[in-house]
Amino acid sequence: MSPSASSELAKESRLWQPVTVRWFAVLFGAAVAYAILRYHILRGVEWAHFPLYIFNKAVSLAAVFFVACSYLVGRVIRWHNDDPRIRLIVIKFCGLVGLSLAAIHGLMSLGLWSSQYYPAYFADDGKLILRGELAITLGIVALWALAVPGVTTLPTMAKSIGGFRWKRTQRMGYLTLALVAAHLIALGLPGWLNPAGWGALPPISLVAFVAAVFPLGAKILRRRTDRSKPNEKTKETKS
Ligand code: HEM
Repeated sequence: MSPSASSELAKESRLWQPVTVRWFAVLFGAAVAYAILRYHILRGVEWAHFPLYIFNKAVSLAAVFFVACSYLVGRVIRWHNDDPRIRLIVIKFCGLVGLSLAAIHGLMSLGLWSSQYYPAYFADDGKLILRGELAITLGIVALWALAVPGVTTLPTMAKSIGGFRWKRTQRMGYLTLALVAAHLIALGLPGWLNPAGWGALPPISLVAFVAAVFPLGAKILRRRTDRSKPNEKTKETKS
């Protein structure tokens, strides 16, 4: 392949291109806007807490949006189905941006993790209560589970581990979503069960929970539909 042809190919397959920039602007923008609206505008949290405490909430919500979308594009979100090359780039982009944002969220959260910021997860003696310990462990394991498909998107990986194992590692994202859902239940369940305390908008943890379980629900539904298809065929041939 000539150098100009290979640089053209590299240009076409790069992750940041107009379509992915639009995806980033919409998903990240929506998460930041929601965090600002719910916490600063509606609940009066001081702007001094935007750079870490509130921005961390936006980053974590965006991370869930991106990971969820990487399993919805091409299946439930069919906007790019007419162009398989762009569809693959968007799926990879969403997965890798989701992983990066989840890692940033993990670091920010550990930087903030104290009874002053999160009194609900600490006992009076300063130690974590069960919910706090569970939430952090589930978050860390979720991040690890997300790193596995992330690493295997490196160009040489599919060849070196083989197509079947590569596909299996990509499905680890579903495990991540289940672990994130559990991370969010541990953090947010008592608040979710008290809608009177939500204010005008539901908590970010609940919005993120819905976003995390949506691809899992879609997968279960698809599996059921796929299973019923051969039966229908058999019925047709029998009749
Ligand atoms: C090292 C790993 C992780 C740690 C230490 C961690 C820690 C935390 C903490 C302390 C909170 C409470 C934040 C708050 O209420 O302001 C939180 C919330 C959250 N986490 Fe994580 N997490 C980790 C991994 C993840 C991953 C992998 C995801 C998703 C991909 C995720 C998504 C969320 C979301 C959406 C919230 C809700 C934010 C809110 O309620 O305001 N976390 N996490």
